[in-house]
Amino acid sequence: MKKRNTKFFPDELQNKLRAQFYYLNDDINGNRRIFFENAGGALRLKSTLEKYGEISMIPDSPVRDYDIAQKINQDITDGKEDIRLLLNAEGGEIAISLTASKIIFEMITVAAMDLPKGNIVTTAIEHPSSYDACEFSSQQYGHELRVAEADHSTGSVFLEELLSHIDDDTRIVSLILTSNITGAMHDLEKYTKAIHEKNSEAIIIVDAVQGAPHELIDLSRCHVDGINLAPYKMFGLRGVGFAWLSDRLARLPHHRLLATDETNWDLGSATPAHYASFSKIVDYICEIGFYFNESDDRRMLIEEGMTRITLQEQAILNRLLNGSESIKGTKHLNNVTIHFEEANGINQDLILAMSFSNISNNRAVEIYKKNNIQVFAREASSHYSKRILEAVGLKSLVRVSPVHVHNAEDIDEFLRVTKMIDEM
Ligand SMILES: Cc1ncc(COP(=O)(O)O)c(C=O)c1O
Repeated sequence: MKKRNTKFFPDELQNKLRAQFYYLNDDINGNRRIFFENAGGALRLKSTLEKYGEISMIPDSPVRDYDIAQKINQDITDGKEDIRLLLNAEGGEIAISLTASKIIFEMITVAAMDLPKGNIVTTAIEHPSSYDACEFSSQQYGHELRVAEADHSTGSVFLEELLSHIDDDTRIVSLILTSNITGAMHDLEKYTKAIHEKNSEAIIIVDAVQGAPHELIDLSRCHVDGINLAPYKMFGLRGVGFAWLSDRLARLPHHRLLATDETNWDLGSATPAHYASFSKIVDYICEIGFYFNESDDRRMLIEEGMTRITLQEQAILNRLLNGSESIKGTKHLNNVTIHFEEANGINQDLILAMSFSNISNNRAVEIYKKNNIQVFAREASSHYSKRILEAVGLKSLVRVSPVHVHNAEDIDEFLRVTKMIDEM
């Protein structure tokens, strides 16, 4: 198994990046806070909000033919291009919605509605937005719902298990790229190529909400028909979700003003500020890429930047697990169990899924909070977590989700509090 990177970003770069985020060290009340809840909504880049404000001040409609209107229309075109570049997607359509959930629901229900009766394959660890879309559209349009089981040690779905549910009658396969609860990452190239080989007609829908901020995506090497992103989990803003759709998915009959192109998924007045704000996320990834490789090719910068983000996050995960000379890592504590990461190795996202044997996970989260660290307990009492926790054989877990701008001091502060809880 490949070894996890242990080397952090150089301080010079790290400090430059840290200065670009809101609330990295303090909360809105000015109290010290380390935010390790990025899987619930990531720390926000200042530039995304500034850009959103700047463009939102402009009253003009982007569909007019004078200079200002054309400028903000160009923001839309550029934003769409940036989404394509981030995914390395040729052609297809970009769709926008209020949430990532809404857009994946739309993609799945449109495919289920338009395709002949057959079966829909999903997995037991999908986020409710895609899982429920599959269940809803199976019932609504007369398809059989098939659910691939999860492996308890990795918190992922093995490819063989997924493939065993796919046959000639499979119309849709829905797969999560990275689980927002277990942190397990699926190899998109390998999985989608194998699905496509088994049934080249099946529409493949990918939930990349958790995966996209942490790993490089290259759709030119995959077979994907629909994939969604949530800017608020990717250093950007709430209130918007994006998707890329292949031509064959975009072309299926869907809600659209009928005078527009058959493949168009934009409905109603566009919001240029959302696209311009997303371009700021891509600029930021490119800035990281440029530090290591002074290319003038934006996709190359994205590749370098995303790869570096992944490496930095591996170093953070390594320190969380193994600590350092001065402080014990979570792996070496008596009352702490770390789930999934050992079986996943470098296929573990920067999500530490842990549980305590001396106190309840909920209580541990309260103690972290009292000590200025924000983490989250995923409990079976929440409809967002129940099915997924059961699928991996757990009742609850503490989810610790830092992000690449956190540094060794942040991790060590977390480890000091963890040691204190462990000894209670
Ligand atoms: C993996 C994954 N998919 C989809 C979503 C849905 O995002 P939203 O609630 O913004 O629609 C989330 C949100 O946490 C998520 O983590």
